[in-house]
Amino acid sequence: MENLKLIRPTKEYEKQAKEYIQEFIDYKSEINGSGGLDKYIDNYNAWLERNEMYRKGIIPDRVPAETFMLIREDDNKLIGMINIRLKLNEELLIHGGHIGYGIRPTERRKGYNSYQLYLALKFCDEQGLDKVLLTCYKDNLGSAKTIQNSCGVLENEIEYKDKVFQRYWIDVKKALEKGSKKYEKKKVK
Ligand SMILES: CC(C)(COP(=O)(O)OP(=O)(O)OC[C@H]1O[C@@H](n2cnc3c(N)ncnc32)[C@H](O)[C@@H]1OP(=O)(O)O)[C@@H](O)C(=O)NCCC(=O)NCCS
Repeated sequence: MENLKLIRPTKEYEKQAKEYIQEFIDYKSEINGSGGLDKYIDNYNAWLERNEMYRKGIIPDRVPAETFMLIREDDNKLIGMINIRLKLNEELLIHGGHIGYGIRPTERRKGYNSYQLYLALKFCDEQGLDKVLLTCYKDNLGSAKTIQNSCGVLENEIEYKDKVFQRYWIDVKKALEKGSKKYEKKKVK
């Protein structure tokens, strides 16, 4: 795996953020994990401020949450985005869960989302979350496989808007143990 990191969004990434969202639109892809960036595409500063409010947990009726950008270090390219809800409300407990994510269409099927989730789980661990809920539509194989590969345990399947979605729980420490074997380079003496 190349060097990739999760960063909190900054002004520096404004142009890239716009191109990123535009790519999803061009490919008619579902946008997920971007913390509502698509709705603020012409007002990036306001989106940054809203992220800060989410982070502080001061938006009424919204749980505290963080949005991260997945950056490939070699070319500083914005590859994916991931949104982590630090608490669940009644709705998220059924549909939405703790984590939503996306990888830009031209960078899919390279293992990036699996790694993005691994990095996000490290953050969850730091925040004291032991178990996280992830939900996805049953026919979203890329998402379901990402979760299953990260030790996701299927709790149930629920019908929602004429589609079936799945609810998985991930034991954070267990997933990190598995991920570290895959991703962390062995130290050379
Ligand atoms: C879902 C998504 C994030 C996957 O990103 P990705 O970087 O392609 O995922 P990865 O390369 O890490 O692949 C994860 C696993 O899913 C598999 N996979 C990925 N896309 C797949 C597809 N379209 N069909 C079947 N399997 C797929 C991969 O082979 C891999 O499994 P493996 O490790 O057993 O080989 C990406 O397709 C996306 O952004 N979709 C739109 C937004 C979205 O649906 N978000 C999730 C909402 S719940």
